[in-house]
Amino acid sequence: MSAKIIDGKAVAEKIRGELRAEVARLKAKGVTPGLGVILVGDDPASKSYVTAKEQACHEIGMFSDDNRLPASATQEELLALIRRMNEDPAIHGILVQLPLPKQIRESEVLLAMNPDKDVDGFHPTNVGRMVVGQQAFLPCTPHGVVQLLLHSGVKIEGAHVVIVGRSNIVGKPLANMLMAKGPGGNATVTVCHTRTRDIGAFTRQADIVVAAAGQPGAIKADMVCEGAVVIDVGVNRVPDPTKKSGFRLAGDVDFEAVKEKASLITPVPGGVGPMTITMLLYNTVESARRVAGA
Ligand code: GUN
Repeated sequence: MSAKIIDGKAVAEKIRGELRAEVARLKAKGVTPGLGVILVGDDPASKSYVTAKEQACHEIGMFSDDNRLPASATQEELLALIRRMNEDPAIHGILVQLPLPKQIRESEVLLAMNPDKDVDGFHPTNVGRMVVGQQAFLPCTPHGVVQLLLHSGVKIEGAHVVIVGRSNIVGKPLANMLMAKGPGGNATVTVCHTRTRDIGAFTRQADIVVAAAGQPGAIKADMVCEGAVVIDVGVNRVPDPTKKSGFRLAGDVDFEAVKEKASLITPVPGGVGPMTITMLLYNTVESARRVAGA
């Protein structure tokens, strides 16, 4: 079997078109959805993510408030900026790009955010709301994965999904969303991680494999069954002297080999990445909609 490629850009563009119309509707009511963006330090990958997120905001008519702090920024400087955004009625969502420099205590930063502006869904209040099935901002990458599956016509209900990776940003929230009751849920979920013995023994049983291990090429062809759906969340920069930048992006899946066994597969780039940004826009527009009461 040679897999059909899931076009994340096309799905993202469709949803962004709907969001553009919603932004126009909110603007006509006097509310322009606004995203407060904070980047600490100059990690090149984080810089490029933040640039792409802000550009996507502008493309659908939202505004972004861009804030850059030096890598030497203190905890107090960052907290002061978050408190200002918590108070600012023009800001409907706050994005603090992770990871943060070593001197900053991430958990304290996430707790300082107003949960009703936490459009990344990382505040423990939103995590708790999600786990118990209350209305919450869902973390953008796992929410993007679920939307990509739904838009691709993949039956999630009753499927066995094996997630490789247990991060707070992807693996853990994705497991919760897929096992929740309702559309996009009702799956049987297994989570593998760095201490799992023989990951392949689990992934070979999966109808859907989600690779979120942060390791290029971690999922090989002999680890998936014929006809599986394979979603690659990995975004790894691997050295490539033929590129002007000196690197290329590679996922966690050995794409060329696995696509010969899978029925559906996401590429990197152009798979999950555009969906992450789209769900951030979705959460920010939703936050503005709640404020506008419209
Ligand atoms: N770093 C990697 N992924 C994310 C994300 O979804 N949100 C934020 N804020 N930082 C990240």
